[in-house]
Amino acid sequence: MSGFIGLAVPGPSNMPFRIRQAMDIALEDHRAPDFPKFTLPLFADLKRIFQTKSGQVFLFPGSGTGGWESAIANTLSPGDKVLASVFGQFSLLWVDLCQRFGLNVDAIDVEWGKGVPLEKYLQRLAADKEHKIKAVLVTHNETATGVTSDVAGVRRILDELDHPAMLFVDGVSSIASIDFRMDEWGVDVAVAGSQKGFMLPTGLAIVCVSQKALKAGETAKLPRCFFDYRDMIKTNAQGYFPYTPAATLLRGLRVSVDMLLEEGLENVFARHSRLASAVRAAVEAWGLRTCAQGPEWYSDTVTAVVVPEGFDANDVIKTAYYQYDLSLGTGLNKVNGKVFRIGHLGWLNDIMVMQTLGGVELAMRDVGIPFEPGAGAGAAVRYLSDTGRAMDRSRIDFTALSTASAAILRARDRLGADTAAPPCRFRATTLAKDTTNRTAQCQLRFSERLQNEVRQTGLFSGTDPGVQR
Ligand SMILES: Cc1ncc(COP(=O)(O)O)c(C=O)c1O
Repeated sequence: MSGFIGLAVPGPSNMPFRIRQAMDIALEDHRAPDFPKFTLPLFADLKRIFQTKSGQVFLFPGSGTGGWESAIANTLSPGDKVLASVFGQFSLLWVDLCQRFGLNVDAIDVEWGKGVPLEKYLQRLAADKEHKIKAVLVTHNETATGVTSDVAGVRRILDELDHPAMLFVDGVSSIASIDFRMDEWGVDVAVAGSQKGFMLPTGLAIVCVSQKALKAGETAKLPRCFFDYRDMIKTNAQGYFPYTPAATLLRGLRVSVDMLLEEGLENVFARHSRLASAVRAAVEAWGLRTCAQGPEWYSDTVTAVVVPEGFDANDVIKTAYYQYDLSLGTGLNKVNGKVFRIGHLGWLNDIMVMQTLGGVELAMRDVGIPFEPGAGAGAAVRYLSDTGRAMDRSRIDFTALSTASAAILRARDRLGADTAAPPCRFRATTLAKDTTNRTAQCQLRFSERLQNEVRQTGLFSGTDPGVQR
């Protein structure tokens, strides 16, 4: 066999060579006197990835599932009520974990393909006058269906009702890839894993905890030992751990955090958004649909593609793997056989996405799914070429501004009829930065309908640039 095996599952993601090299080291003494010189800045810099000043980051040997367990075991007591929703395999498993811990879970069933039902959360929390609900669970990005939910929306509901429940977020397949704001959204426990946006091997549960959740831990009664935040707090303060840490992975994590901060979080999010849009353009051009039922649910890290009636998605996955050395994500639970998943997160660029789309086309053609070969790849080529990529800071100059202006003008031209609609001003801030890091701004007038189109060019900062009338 020659050539790379393509890894297009939604985690583990591709590992940068820089990270691999950082971990190709002799094993080290995690109680060495100079170990804190390495760990203390790492803890501090990780807070920037979670966009928090007041939260505390914990690094456990483990995986995302361990992160879930830590959130529950450290903050709640047997029989406590939690509000959750199930719309895919991972939101389902988190609920299962809560039930096994003896919590009283109100798990709202949602059609797979949609996400957290804000109206139902509002109803349940509004009805909870006695504040029996102690925690609200949100799976930010449901990796099984490629659905992203509105965490800020849940925060708004809690604030409007002045409800004191803690907000727990599963950010395993969103954090470090999709915008996630611990402090701004008032998140109490955020859970991530090393093998997705952090571009590392599996083996770390990366958890960020608010002061409010730490306080709740003082009276919480669920049993905890391995995942006890209190043991971590005591030893982490000096730069050490209560037991042997996964030090080699931490060396990789140092480089992962460096790479994310060097690129700039805004640029990381924009890159994911743009590559995801290219994948969705391909799906549409194949005449297929995504499991996510509409743009409000689209995920920028994973796309679950529904195969036509009469076909088995597992045949596509097996063919891609055995014939073309490409790993695609399988459909889990209810959607097994119905979807295959394309992971587009982590260390990824335009040509890696094109390679995956080419592999998908080869496999789909082999199993007889009707589509025009090249249609999806062609749509992605057009999208990527039209939008140009948001470059990392070190490479950017003001010519990027004209690219951005051209992209939004093209977007407007494509929907020409819309220009007749009453215009509103859509503030489009380009990611173009000069060497002194000044942001170039470019404002044009658009109707509301065009916002999405403009946003999908991936050239603009922020997920919601806002509309000024
Ligand atoms: C959204 C989400 N949550 C939780 C998990 C569980 O994480 P792990 O497999 O690292 O335990 C996953 C794994 O893919 C996931 O995608």
